Amino acid sequence: MAQELTGKVAVVTGGVSGIGRGIVDVFLEEGARIVVGDIDDEAGHALHKELGDDVTFQHTDVTVAADVEALIARAVSQYGGLNVMVNNAGALGEQSGLLDLDPDGFTRTTDLLLRSVVLGHTYAGRRMKEQGTGGSIVSMSSIAGIQAGLSSVSYDAAKAGVLQVARTATHELAPYKIRSNVIMPGLILTPIMAKGTDLDPSQYPAFVEALKEPLGELHPIGRGGLPRDLANAALFFAGDRSAFITGQHIAVDGGITSVSHLDMGAVVGKAFTAMGVTGVDPNFSAAAKHDSA
Ligand SMILES: NC(=O)c1ccc[n+]([C@@H]2O[C@H](COP(=O)([O-])OP(=O)(O)OC[C@H]3O[C@@H](n4cnc5c(N)ncnc54)[C@H](O)[C@@H]3O)[C@@H](O)[C@H]2O)c1
Repeated sequence: MAQELTGKVAVVTGGVSGIGRGIVDVFLEEGARIVVGDIDDEAGHALHKELGDDVTFQHTDVTVAADVEALIARAVSQYGGLNVMVNNAGALGEQSGLLDLDPDGFTRTTDLLLRSVVLGHTYAGRRMKEQGTGGSIVSMSSIAGIQAGLSSVSYDAAKAGVLQVARTATHELAPYKIRSNVIMPGLILTPIMAKGTDLDPSQYPAFVEALKEPLGELHPIGRGGLPRDLANAALFFAGDRSAFITGQHIAVDGGITSVSHLDMGAVVGKAFTAMGVTGVDPNFSAAAKHDSA
């Protein structure tokens, strides 16, 4: 089967772990050469050693503009250009609420999750414009960008902002044939949530394993997301199959954002109880009847 990214050069931030690592694996299988930018130097060098010369690691803190600029320059010096930019690096960041907000934590988190995405567009966009070949920018948002209650105002606001960056990028960059699209993961089997706790890194694999069952219960599709689920969406946006798509976002979430977990039968049952009505089945909906069938 033909490879979809043959001859393409991609940059992937946060590529040594979780979703980013899944993207690196799939892009490599599809013929791309990849520069990974991440703060985890040890894992980054190990990744290069494991995957070979088509994967280069460069220490990059995506909150530092000069690092992002240097990352793009590395793709050019190492592999001769840039076709795909994946803004993926992230962490849970500040988890305080609106009423007990840590304002500096908010700024640190939006720097990590939103400003970094803007920087990725700026430096990758400049290079792609200069090349005259166009290009594809893919950014990792979250279903927390459209739904509250999963994380904090800092994380949610940053991830919502990523959706708008892609629209603004479309306004400014589409004339240069540079596309920008966004992926919103559901709950994915990676160590990101453990990294927000005091758990020892050696326990991360066990944590991810232990997440399988609870995440399976939350997703209508019956399992938690895998890094490859996101990588396949990133591949679609990176390559020519999505040539006429820009400024868009897609939830890769096993159905979470499509289905409400509201128990309407319980609501109707409470109303019946308040009315003193007994002996009438409150489960009128098809779903409730399906469940009890
Ligand atoms: N896992 C999920 O359930 C989930 C859900 C929605 C969105 N996301 C988003 O997906 C992206 C990837 O998350 P993941 O689950 O793979 O997490 P992960 O912790 O497995 O990977 C994140 C990577 O980003 C790197 N990173 C962190 N800060 C960085 C910085 N300042 N500069 C460069 N690299 C940095 C980490 O070293 C790590 O390699 C994040 O943007 C995250 O917000 C994840």
